[in-house]
Amino acid sequence: MRLALSFLRLLPPEISHFIALHALKILYKANLIRFLFPHDNSSESFQFKGLTFKNRLGIAAGLDKNGDFLDSLGALGFGFIEVGTITPKPQPGNPKPRVFRFTDQEAIINRLGFNNKGVDYLVKRVKGREYNGVLGINIGANKDSIGQKRIDDYIECFRKVSTYADYITVNISSPNTPGLRSLHSKENFLPLFKAISHVREIENFLNPIFIKLSPDEHIDVISEITKAIKEFNFDGVITSNTTIDKSNLIFESKADLSGGLSGKPLLEKSNELLSLVHLREPELLKIGVGGVHNKESFDMKFEKGASLVQIYTSFIYHGPKIIKKLLN
Ligand SMILES: Cc1cc2nc3c(=O)[nH]c(=O)nc-3n(C[C@H](O)[C@H](O)[C@H](O)COP(=O)(O)O)c2cc1C
Repeated sequence: MRLALSFLRLLPPEISHFIALHALKILYKANLIRFLFPHDNSSESFQFKGLTFKNRLGIAAGLDKNGDFLDSLGALGFGFIEVGTITPKPQPGNPKPRVFRFTDQEAIINRLGFNNKGVDYLVKRVKGREYNGVLGINIGANKDSIGQKRIDDYIECFRKVSTYADYITVNISSPNTPGLRSLHSKENFLPLFKAISHVREIENFLNPIFIKLSPDEHIDVISEITKAIKEFNFDGVITSNTTIDKSNLIFESKADLSGGLSGKPLLEKSNELLSLVHLREPELLKIGVGGVHNKESFDMKFEKGASLVQIYTSFIYHGPKIIKKLLN
C-alpha cells in the first residue's frame, strides 16, 4: 500500500487520481476491497432527518465529481459520500496543470474550475449505483452563466438530482469559478435561496439542504448568510471549501499559486469558520471539512460543533487506511 502511494506520488496529480480511482474500481469489481481494506462497522451511527449515517466520516465533494466511483468508495467504509460539484452542461474546467501537491505539508492547491460531465451523466451514474449508504449531491453553476442564468443552473441541477439525493449541497464557495463567491453577499444569495426554497417545495424534497461556505469571508458576511440559511429552513452548512489564503503554506516565491488550498494548512481557518457558525446558529447542522489528517484533527471538528466530518486531501495522501485511523 505504502509502495503504491509512493509510486502514485511520482505521477502528475490528475493522472495519479485517475489511476488510483480506476484501480479501486477494479478491486471493487473483483470483490477484493473488503479483504484489502477491511473495516469494522462498530462506529456509532448518526441520524438526521430520517437519514442514517452509518458513521460520521464522509468523503468530500470533488473527489468523485461525476459519480463514477460511488460503489468502490462506498465499499471502503465511509458513512456518507458527496459527489459533484455538478453543473447543468458538461465543462472541461481550467487549463492544465491545475492541481499541485505540497507533499511535505500534506496540502493541495487546485484550480480545476468545476470540470465535470454534466448533471444528466451524473444522474445515470447514481441511478445505477449499488452503494446504499447516504448520498449527497453537490450542485453548482456553469462558468459562463451569470445573473439569472446562474440561478437557473442551480435549479436545473436541483430538479434533476432531487429524486436520487439523500441531501443536496448548494456550492457557492469554489474559488475557481469566477464570481461564484459573490453569492455570499445578501443581494446575490437572497434570489438564489428563494429559488431553491421554491424548487424544494415543488419537488417535495424533504431531505436536507446544506450550503457550502467559503472560509475567506468576513465575519459579518457569515453572520448574515447563516441567519438567512436558518430563516429559509435549510438544514445546515458545510464548513468549509478551500481557501485562497496561502499564508500557512511554505512555497517558492515564483510559483503560480492561484487556486484553492486544502489539507493541513486549511485546518485552522476552516475550524474558525465552523466555530463561528456554531456560535451564531447552534441549531444548524454542521459538516466540518478542511485539514482533517489524524484522529486529533478529526475529533477537533466535533468539539467545534460539527455533527459530521468530511475529508479529501488526507485521503489522497494516506489512502483508504485513513478511514480506520479516524474512526477507531
Ligand atoms: C482537487 C480538489 C477538487 C475539489 N473539488 C470540489 C468540488 O468540485 N466541489 C466542492 O464543493 N469542493 C471541492 N473541493 C473542496 C473539498 O470538498 C474540501 O472542501 C476541501 O478540500 C477541504 O477539505 P480537505 O482539507 O480535507 O481537503 C475540492 C478539493 C480538491 C483538493
